[in-house]
Amino acid sequence: MNIYESKNNELYIDGISAIELVKKFESPLYVYSKKIIKKRFEDLKNAIIYPNIRIYYAMKANSNLRILEILKNEGAYVETISPEEVMIALKAGFKKEKILFTGINLSIPDMEFAYKNKILPNLGSLLQLKSFGERFPNSNVAIRINPDFGSGHHEHVVTGGRESKFGIFCSKENKDYLKDINKICKKHNLKIIGIHAHIGSGVLEEKKYLKLAEIILEIAKDFPYLEFVNIGGGIGVPYRKDESPFDIKSFGVEISKAMEEFVRKYGKQVQLAIEPGRYIVAEARTLLVSVNDIKETPKFKFVGVDSGFNHLIRPLAYGSYHEIINASNVEDEKEEVVIAGYICESGDVFTRSEKAIEKRQISKVDIGNILAIMNAGAYGFTMSSNYNSRPRPAEVMVCDGKAHLIRRRENINDLLKTQR
Ligand code: LLP
Repeated sequence: MNIYESKNNELYIDGISAIELVKKFESPLYVYSKKIIKKRFEDLKNAIIYPNIRIYYAMKANSNLRILEILKNEGAYVETISPEEVMIALKAGFKKEKILFTGINLSIPDMEFAYKNKILPNLGSLLQLKSFGERFPNSNVAIRINPDFGSGHHEHVVTGGRESKFGIFCSKENKDYLKDINKICKKHNLKIIGIHAHIGSGVLEEKKYLKLAEIILEIAKDFPYLEFVNIGGGIGVPYRKDESPFDIKSFGVEISKAMEEFVRKYGKQVQLAIEPGRYIVAEARTLLVSVNDIKETPKFKFVGVDSGFNHLIRPLAYGSYHEIINASNVEDEKEEVVIAGYICESGDVFTRSEKAIEKRQISKVDIGNILAIMNAGAYGFTMSSNYNSRPRPAEVMVCDGKAHLIRRRENINDLLKTQR
């Protein structure tokens, strides 16, 4: 589904002019599409034939209440990483039983929070399982395993394998960890109702999930109280035009086969859980920024905009590519420029690889033009900061030619309110 079009040489997002959006809500501005969020969720749900499925939305990708509400109404569960994410999910109306709390290095108060609020904890080490069991015996829990392999668009987001801090390491050679898990559970009467693994983020090959399913289902057969197996999130989206999208149809068919076979052997219905974040929201959002300056060095023509890595850190953090369109002049001749942010650091460039600044072909840019930084829906706003004491942008949701403000722009009072 394409909600972007060029009319009179200007960019329209789901029927609304990007220029008009900035006139009304000011710049910089995050713009989301309700249609895309719903479509991605439905596509995924429909692709998986196995009927016993729960889709957790990994809200770390984007935790805006209105987005959570859309997904809740679609029937999503929600995967959370902190007590605060749990509270936001509850505020969006998610029922407690639809929330999974995959905290990392949980403190005792974090565990207590989960227990008291009846939120299922997903524990990622033998010690965390033991601590939870000692304090809150007779509970249901999920465990996170490390399947001894990982994947992802950048080494920082690979979350499985021997160099990964996540999960209970599952070695093929030595099964002692299974005995240890059972011992802890027996001692404290814990019931493991879910087994979870997340291999990483930005995975474009569906085969990686089949490999994971094989490992996780092999382990799962030894757990008598199992209600679900969760193969994590990580489904990637193509950021560059030449990248092939994740084949959700083939993924849906193959993963369903694996589940059906498992259920036949295991002799009991077990739900399949997945927990995508990026796949649902990445393509649903654009960051609109304004051009405030243009200058040249012998090497680059710099286009300076009113935003930076404080609003979208992915280019700086991972060398991630985001397509950039001149929304004020979509179809003009292209020129080679560098799009630079307003943060006081040389690394603050939107057109860059991990190591170096890169030139980009963009249709002719002038002062006052609006640029659209595409596919900024996942890990854009949630990773934003107030660095340089710049406020975060406003967020707007568009649907059927209408735009709604869903988060107001921060201001100086927001920056000062926690200081004493
Ligand atoms: N489940 C768990 C346990 C996770 O840690 C994550 C992401 C997800 C699900 C969702 O992954 P997704 O489907 O969104 O790939 N900031 C990085 C991505 C970090 C992902 C962290 N964990 C980026 O901008 O690429």
